[in-house]
Amino acid sequence: MIQEKHIEATLKEMFSNLKFTQEPAGLYDPLRYMIEIGGKRIRPRLCLTAYALYKDSFSEEILIPAAAIEVFHSFTLIHDDIMDKAEVRRGVPTVYRKWNENTAILSGDVMSIESYRMVAKAPASALPAVLELFSKTAAEVCEGQQYDMDFEDLPQVPMEDYLKMIGLKTAVLIACSAKMGALIAGASAEDADLLYKFGYDLGLAFQIADDWLDTYGDPAVFGKAIGGDILNNKKSWLLTRALEKAGTERLADALAMPIGTEEDKEAKIAAVKTIYNELEVGKEAMHEIKRLHSQAMEYVDRLNLGKIKTEMLHRYADMLLGRRK
Ligand code: IPE
Ligand code: IPE
Ligand code: MG
Ligand code: MG
Ligand code: MG
Repeated sequence: MIQEKHIEATLKEMFSNLKFTQEPAGLYDPLRYMIEIGGKRIRPRLCLTAYALYKDSFSEEILIPAAAIEVFHSFTLIHDDIMDKAEVRRGVPTVYRKWNENTAILSGDVMSIESYRMVAKAPASALPAVLELFSKTAAEVCEGQQYDMDFEDLPQVPMEDYLKMIGLKTAVLIACSAKMGALIAGASAEDADLLYKFGYDLGLAFQIADDWLDTYGDPAVFGKAIGGDILNNKKSWLLTRALEKAGTERLADALAMPIGTEEDKEAKIAAVKTIYNELEVGKEAMHEIKRLHSQAMEYVDRLNLGKIKTEMLHRYADMLLGRRK
C-alpha cells in the first residue's frame, strides 16, 4: 500500500517537475510564483490519498490531474485576492499587488485553461466522468464566489445561506479532489460518492476554520492579513453567527466604521472582535468545525476500507482541520 511518506514525497516532486510556458513573462511568471511558493497543497494530497486507497503505485494518470486541481485552486486565489482586496497570501504579496490587476486577471485565466489541459490527461476510461465533475465543480466555485460578494452588501444572511455559499466556493473543490482520485483509480461509483461527501463536509469545516483564523489566527503563521473579512463586512461564519445571535443593531455601528487609514482599520477590527468575544462566536465556530469533522468521518466508516486505510483518512482530516495556516 502507498504510505503517506510516499504521498508527501510525490507531491514535492510533482510540483518541482511541473514546467510551464516561459513567454510572455507577464503572463506566466505569476503562475510560477504561485505554484513555486506553494500553499498547503491539501487538494492534490487528498486526490492522491483517495487514489492510494485503490492502487498500489502512482503514475502520470493521477499525478497530472491531481496537480491540475492545485493549478485551478491557485487561479481562484489570484482572482479572489483582487475581489477581497487582500495584499498578502502565503506570506508574500498577492499577484495583483506584486504585478497589477490586469496581470492577475489574465494569468488567472491562463491558469484556469492550463488546469483543463492537465485534467484532460486522465485515463480515457475515466475521462468523461472526470471532465464532467471538474467542469461542474469549477462553475460551482464561481457561483460560490458570486454569493460571497453579494453577501458583503447584505445586512444579514441566514446560516443556511452561508453554508450553501461556502459549500460552493470551498467545499466542492475539496470534494472533487477526493472523488477524482477515486474515479481515476477505478473505484466504484458508490465509493466515489462517499469520498465526495467526506470531502464536502471536511471542506465546510475547513472554510469555517479559515474564517476563524482570519480573525483569531497568528499573522506570522497564517500567511494572510488578519481581519480582512471584518474590513470587507464579509459574511464569515463568525459574522453570520454574531448577527444571528445579537441582531443587526448590535453590530451596526462597528460594521459601519470607516476603513480609510491603517488606524481606522485597526479600530474597526478591534471593535468587531470585541463583539465576537462577548458573544463567544469563536468558541461556537470551533464546535461547529468538530461537528462537521465527525460528520465527515461517518462517510469514511461507510466505505469499509479496513483499519489501515481508514486511519489514513482520519489522519488526513486531522491534519486538515488542525490547521493554523
Ligand atoms: C485558501 O485555500 C482558500 C480557502 C478555501 C480557504 P488554502 O487554505 O488551501 O490555501 P493554500 O493553497 O494553502 O495557500
Ligand atoms: C476563498 O475564500 C474561496 C476561494 C478562493 C474560492 P476566502 O476568500 O476566505 O479565502 P482566503 O481567506 O482569501 O484564502
Ligand atoms: Mg474570498
Ligand atoms: Mg479571500
Ligand atoms: Mg478566508
